[in-house]
Amino acid sequence: MFAAVNSMGLLGIDGFPVRVEADISQGLPSFDVVGLPDAAVRESRDRVRAAMKNCGYTYPVSRITINMAPANVKKVGSLYDLPLLVAILKASGQLAVDTDRFAFIGELSLLGEIRSVSGVLSMVIAAREQGFTAVFLPAENAAEGAVVEGITCYPVPTVTALVEHLLGLQPLKPASEWIGEVGPAPLPPDFEDVMGQGVARHVMEIAAVGGHNVLLIGSPGAGKSMLAKRLPGILPDMTAEEALEATKIHSVAGTLPGGIGLLRERPFRSPHHTVSVAGLTGGGTTPRPGEVSLAHHGVLFLDELPEFTRQSMESLRQPLEDSKVTISRVNATITYPCTFMLIAAMNPCPCGFFGHPSHPCTCSPQAVRRYLSRISGPLLDRIDLHIEVPPVQYEELASKKKAESSAVIRERVNKARAIQNERFAGTNITCNAHIPDSQLKKWCPVTAAGEQLLRDVFDKMGLSARAYNRILKVARTIADMDGAEQIDLPHIAEAVQYRSLDRKYWGE
Ligand SMILES: Nc1ncnc2c1ncn2[C@@H]1O[C@H](COP(=O)(O)OP(=O)(O)OP(=O)(O)O)[C@@H](O)[C@H]1O
Ligand SMILES: [Mg+2]
Repeated sequence: MFAAVNSMGLLGIDGFPVRVEADISQGLPSFDVVGLPDAAVRESRDRVRAAMKNCGYTYPVSRITINMAPANVKKVGSLYDLPLLVAILKASGQLAVDTDRFAFIGELSLLGEIRSVSGVLSMVIAAREQGFTAVFLPAENAAEGAVVEGITCYPVPTVTALVEHLLGLQPLKPASEWIGEVGPAPLPPDFEDVMGQGVARHVMEIAAVGGHNVLLIGSPGAGKSMLAKRLPGILPDMTAEEALEATKIHSVAGTLPGGIGLLRERPFRSPHHTVSVAGLTGGGTTPRPGEVSLAHHGVLFLDELPEFTRQSMESLRQPLEDSKVTISRVNATITYPCTFMLIAAMNPCPCGFFGHPSHPCTCSPQAVRRYLSRISGPLLDRIDLHIEVPPVQYEELASKKKAESSAVIRERVNKARAIQNERFAGTNITCNAHIPDSQLKKWCPVTAAGEQLLRDVFDKMGLSARAYNRILKVARTIADMDGAEQIDLPHIAEAVQYRSLDRKYWGE
């Protein structure tokens, strides 16, 4: 006997339909899976057999052949346990119901419980596009399914519950009725704790508004890590589209916090400096999004930048430029988006006090040079805002007054980001930092005085074309914060100023 049921698969962050066909025929008992299954899919057999037995069904002692179509795409993971079981139940005549417009996703335990899988959000979206009316998925993934409108998702606790639902004996509750209240996320640390540091605070605000990359240089204890960790609290709200895209990636990577269907806060990733290149940019034998993609529409924070390996730093160049990572495998090419803000922090030398106003630096000039040269020029060139974080003054630190809070800053950031959302409506540009170079003239009109300053600076500072473009984008952000439509001289002057530190430390 033959039966086929629908399931879904994942390619990068997008889902695609998979048809699981089961054929049961006379012959020596066997179980073969064809259609490019990976090891986890081949192991399904044992889980399916045990789950069927423990739920009171008969595992057919015959020749079982499973085919998974399309046959030319690799099927990865344990999510095919459930469709396999349903297909065998149907092919062996133990479940006579029409499942043609349903899709099944889920891993099985030996007792027949359904366990969570990754990538549910993308798969449910693809199932809706296929015109399926319902998806049966693991209860733990209910929140992700509930996000998608226009298709019913049934969280399934056990095989028995699924069969009872399909037979019309005991209906399952759809995911939309399932979702309990998720408590508010813990608040990130607040900018009101940062005393003084006027310039650094202002630069973090510019970065948040325009999505620009920042390099913080300063002596130990100056407050670099402190400033960076407070950035999430002032980032602009995500648009619905951004939230969906960011959530897809976390769903695929299996890093969505429990009970969360849609990310509301921009992601903030701070990988340790021992992270591998694959961990940073994505890849591995079973491809997985890297930190750059997990930071999609959010922040990638690299603390103690010189401690990262040369290869990891170099590996960031392409993702920073293209906002996507492409991974090639024999059977498929996978693309993970990565539109992120890079925030990096570092000391200026091994002892940390080079350039400190009062504390002497004990490093030789060669040691300082060697330390700074760990940061590659091309990476530096991709960072729009370079700032020195000076040690905080005693008077400021001891002051009883609280500094401006994140909530107040965030309100301003949201206002300035709204200007960009309106400006870039209908395009795929998300913020000023990601204006394609070819469209700079269109989005960044400069006054005559501003033009003059740009020309002078370009010649005097020997800027690269990329540095020039990036100055223009930062100036666009500063003008937006100023409410100005045209970029004027003061906006250019300020943007240039944040671009001059690399000369002090890395210049001759
Ligand atoms: N401007 C400030 N206002 C209040 N507290 C501060 C300020 N700057 C630093 N601190 C205090 O100093 C501590 C150390 O700061 P932080 O860890 O950010 O230093 P850092 O610059 O990252 O140093 P390192 O180079 O060693 O990593 C903070 O946890 C905070 O308590
Ligand atoms: Mg630090």
